[in-house]
Amino acid sequence: MEFFLDTGIVSEIKEAVLLGIIDGVTTNPSLIAKTGRKQEDVIREICGLIDGPISAEVIALDLEEMIKEGEELSKIHKNVVIKLPLTEAGIAACKYFSAKNIKTNVTLCFSVNQALLAAKAGATYISPFVGRLDDIGHSGNDLLSEIRALYDNFGFTTKILAASIRHAAHVREAALLGADVGTMPLSVVKSLYRHPLTDKGLEIFIADHKRANS
Ligand code: G3P
Repeated sequence: MEFFLDTGIVSEIKEAVLLGIIDGVTTNPSLIAKTGRKQEDVIREICGLIDGPISAEVIALDLEEMIKEGEELSKIHKNVVIKLPLTEAGIAACKYFSAKNIKTNVTLCFSVNQALLAAKAGATYISPFVGRLDDIGHSGNDLLSEIRALYDNFGFTTKILAASIRHAAHVREAALLGADVGTMPLSVVKSLYRHPLTDKGLEIFIADHKRANS
């Protein structure tokens, strides 16, 4: 499973790179707004930090503008992935970019039928939002496993990018359900390392080593 960092904050990305397990970055308009910087500047800087897929989202709602914006974004760097909303125009734009071999990430996916449309349009990634589904009492996990079954049935190569991951259990479940990628905040990545028995075991090893060598 690949790990993407879900942030626009460069200092977090620099810190995450040192962990050695981050494969790419996803951003969205809300995450870019938090930086207080221009999207183009943020994306360019991120591309210099990680040699992997970097998702940058279009703002336009109509097809012509989406294509124009996506083309501008793809000029920033070869690793830029065009993030498109799951709308009629977004799916048509996805088809346009896939025909040009430009990578796409179709976002705001909340149903299997939406994931089917993205795959038919040749999306590189589909982003089901597991946390937001859980928030309204639905099951993000059910969606992930149904998309996995659907893509495997037809041999679609679109990668399942589990998004809106809020905690370690989401990562565990997405991995077990066959998501190809999980995108998450740095705090969630860091939480994956922690286990009280690891801390306790390490404390005992260090204490025993000191005792034996004193
Ligand atoms: O990038 C999209 C997604 O990961 C957003 O997560 O926590 O705002 O639902 P969240």
